[in-house]
Amino acid sequence: MRSDTPTATTAPAPTTTTTLVHTPATGAAEWWRTAVIYQVYPRSFADASGDGIGDLAGITSRLPHLARLGVDAVWLSPFYRSPQHDAGYDVADYRDVDPLFGTLDDFDTMLAAAHRYRIRVIVDLVPNHTSNEHAWFRAALTAAPGSPERARYVFRDGRGPDGAAPPNNWTSVFGGTAWTRVTEPDGTPGQWYLHLFDTTQPDLDWTNPEVRAEFESVLRFWLDRGVDGFRVDVAHGMVKEPGLPDWAGSSSMIEGAHEGTTGSEDGSTGAGNQGPMWDQDGVHDIYRSWHAVLAEYDGDRALVAEAWVEPLSRLARYVRPDEMQQAFNFSFLTALWSAPVLREVVTASLEANDAVGAPTTWVLSNHDVVRHTSRLGLEVPGSKPNGIGAGDPQPDEALGLRRARAATLMMLALPGSAYLYQGEELGLPEHTSLDDDERQDPTWWRSEHTERGRDGCRVPLPWAADEPAFGFSPTGAAWLTQPESYRRYALDAQRGTAGSTYEVYRSALRLRREFRLGSGSLAWVDGLPAGAHCTVLAFVNRELLVITNFGPDALRLPADLTLVHASDDLPVADDDAVLVPPDTTVWARLTA
Ligand code: NOJ
Repeated sequence: MRSDTPTATTAPAPTTTTTLVHTPATGAAEWWRTAVIYQVYPRSFADASGDGIGDLAGITSRLPHLARLGVDAVWLSPFYRSPQHDAGYDVADYRDVDPLFGTLDDFDTMLAAAHRYRIRVIVDLVPNHTSNEHAWFRAALTAAPGSPERARYVFRDGRGPDGAAPPNNWTSVFGGTAWTRVTEPDGTPGQWYLHLFDTTQPDLDWTNPEVRAEFESVLRFWLDRGVDGFRVDVAHGMVKEPGLPDWAGSSSMIEGAHEGTTGSEDGSTGAGNQGPMWDQDGVHDIYRSWHAVLAEYDGDRALVAEAWVEPLSRLARYVRPDEMQQAFNFSFLTALWSAPVLREVVTASLEANDAVGAPTTWVLSNHDVVRHTSRLGLEVPGSKPNGIGAGDPQPDEALGLRRARAATLMMLALPGSAYLYQGEELGLPEHTSLDDDERQDPTWWRSEHTERGRDGCRVPLPWAADEPAFGFSPTGAAWLTQPESYRRYALDAQRGTAGSTYEVYRSALRLRREFRLGSGSLAWVDGLPAGAHCTVLAFVNRELLVITNFGPDALRLPADLTLVHASDDLPVADDDAVLVPPDTTVWARLTA
């Protein structure tokens, strides 16, 4: 592997010091503590029917890919009956599959096949809001103010003499007001209903026992079918501060989302939603009752919180022993590409979760954020624009991919459970030049076309370079046009090619399992090389030393280490020392 030798820092490792921040939990062996969980976004994963929208049969057909990759579980974004105003996060019937994705039989077939491959299946649960086409909401619209039908949602009279002003000043996460006024059955302008997201996503009132009973029943419906758990959408938003007080801040993911934050000692990186609609203490009662429901079933079923809550000590309250099993670590996802920032976030994450006996989770990409391959290629690497369009500053594709592979290898060596988002194993970049006319994310129009939103990370996957729609669908149809560049990222262009992103991921998952990194420990290593604390992140987990080089110069790998894995090719110096170039992670064995 000898190649051009970049400038290397001269100091080899003199004296190193270690700081232990996490030891394995003893006696806790549930699968979700260490699992690698792969997010399937059904409409963009694989389309068996040929209509251009991925489906359950498509997922079943591609399970061998996931088994070969080596993941432990999949999480499926919503496939329930829905008018698809927010890509299925607007559910009209929680107990049925939308015809776009297939049938309940298709679901059962997929679940059984996944289990045969020893892949567990987590489904998405969307309890903060329903679709406006849900039977409950339709009934609420035809019922009178004050009726039991309206009491399932958050209906209020408007302000001002004629009630023409919204009940409070809250804004929607997608932009604009969080309230919509209804026309009463007699044709007069009526009450307003709350929607923290789109108009088509009315918020449920979780103080209503009927709502609680209904969702416990929905949980049982899917648990009885055999699912292994639930990813709980907007887990921090279901209970609002009583009285719904005005709030000077904004809920919008539009504001404040662009700049990366530099981190702080408590590990916060700007991932926490603020205000009287988020993270209210009452949500925890809901999760205690759900914990009890899951405990009636065998097989260590799990609840995963999608909660944009900071600091991490506050997020850890969702995973106390009698609540959920995991919470997504968005502080990690939103951290800038910086050794000190990541060190703070990782330390704070492990400390906060250890304090409640929960595993820490790690995630870099999902269907709501610009893919990390592209975020890490931006001028401020790791900053988080709300979508990228053709007229925006473009990420450096090669640099972003290089950093993304380094970030992923660092993540997969951390103790705990890791999430992968479909396509990241191919190194897929964000589609940053999608035609604006194709955009479907409500963010695009609710922001009056100022924020491009999330379509760019949701483009259908390329499976085969030379097939129609790169193998996504048999007809060549694709609900969002794939960029031509996806041809070179196709799975069949990478499988079996040493050094391809796919093979780097695959080896990483195999080695992660072999070295039992998920259930391991973490000790930071300083002084490797001397004085590079700000540009090197190094830690030990079991027998592995993991080094990520964030600096501009290559590092020399200490001679007493045996290389196990690397995110990219490693050059060799004239004296045969292995070099770790900038934006690279290596896994090395401590003893030969
Ligand atoms: C979080 C989901 O991940 C996102 O895609 C959705 O738009 C909102 N919750 C609303 O359900």
